[in-house]
Amino acid sequence: MLARLTHKRIVLGVSGGIAAYKSAELIRRLRDAGAEVQVVMTAAAQQFITPLTLQALSGNPVHTDLLDPSAEAAMGHIELARWADLILIAPASADCIARLAQGIANDLLTTLCLATKAQLAIAPAMNQQMWAAPALQANLTVLRERRVAVFGPAAGAQACGDVGEGRMLEAVELASRCADCFETGVLTGQHVVITAGPTREALDPVRYLSNHSSGKMGFSIARACVEAGARVTLIAGPVNLPTPERLVRVDVVSALDMLAAALAASQSADIFIATAAVADYRPEAVAAQKIKKSSEMLTLALVRNPDIVATIAAHENKPFVVGFAAETEKVLEHAREKLLRKHLDMVACNDVARSDIGFQSDDNALTVIWKEGSQVLEKASKSVIARQLVAMIAQRIKADN
Ligand code: C5P
Repeated sequence: MLARLTHKRIVLGVSGGIAAYKSAELIRRLRDAGAEVQVVMTAAAQQFITPLTLQALSGNPVHTDLLDPSAEAAMGHIELARWADLILIAPASADCIARLAQGIANDLLTTLCLATKAQLAIAPAMNQQMWAAPALQANLTVLRERRVAVFGPAAGAQACGDVGEGRMLEAVELASRCADCFETGVLTGQHVVITAGPTREALDPVRYLSNHSSGKMGFSIARACVEAGARVTLIAGPVNLPTPERLVRVDVVSALDMLAAALAASQSADIFIATAAVADYRPEAVAAQKIKKSSEMLTLALVRNPDIVATIAAHENKPFVVGFAAETEKVLEHAREKLLRKHLDMVACNDVARSDIGFQSDDNALTVIWKEGSQVLEKASKSVIARQLVAMIAQRIKADN
């Protein structure tokens, strides 16, 4: 299940060995599966393959030196050690394995291995006689006891002309072993598009119509989807919130901008979650100059904005669509009507008449309804509610298939 690699962060350590040429393809495979890759090369590795090749393939500068101030300024070794979800050394030479077993930290790669909490894995590659050597096997036993995963090696013809065990596994096999290191989240590999926050509808160059939506619920749901293994596009109106990690954020201002971004992103979406408080109306025309105060009365002509979530739900190949309903009365009745009218798969209702939850608050409570049923999510922080909602979405998708 290569999808488990979606936005996982992998440090690929390359030590000296002829199999280093396979590391180039491995980077491609990992990135194709959605992983981010940072490459660390030992000095010996650079004799076999150039950093430039691996930089081009990984899309990131290659790390080679522990004591290079400019590299440390960009991403220091401790930062890199914290960044990684997995450190895979492929190829892992006999020398590299010995240094790992001894806890020696005399270059960047071995230092990272000591400084990380991430899972460590090695893909040994060496001559069959070296592989069979008792010292090498003893070092491997030590590493296995420390829960270092050992991928391979395979048996077969070797670069030196020998035949036997010691060939590095092929890139496709290594990518699959990396994927096995990660648990499956309930939304693994799914593309989720989320709208969040308010929209702003310009009246003139300095004024606009908007609402009090903070965007917190949508951002929490985006985080929960990432946690569940999804690839997330977060379409955000003007909000004052930091961008969650490991997702793509698209900033928009007006409802029309949000619709365009939603249509573009949802072409490949499996799930569409509309948490945005989209302005229902926009000024018919945006005044080119600041509107001057003259008469006592000013009448604004407004036109209806398109309904974004209903537009997405009307598509033939529509994703699983979740809408929100903020109601002050007859909450369930209105929400069920919305479910049917907008052709949604699920509606999450907020009772905005309650003063302890909602728009600007950090807490929320929801009643979630779908065609055949409903479930109440009791008051909790928006991040807890978001995780519960994501679990329910995953459950409904499973039930529908
Ligand atoms: O119709 P109402 O605004 O109450 O519906 C709320 C739901 O519809 C929310 O999910 C909201 O994000 C979505 N919506 C939308 N585009 C609009 C209005 C609402 O996507 N123009």
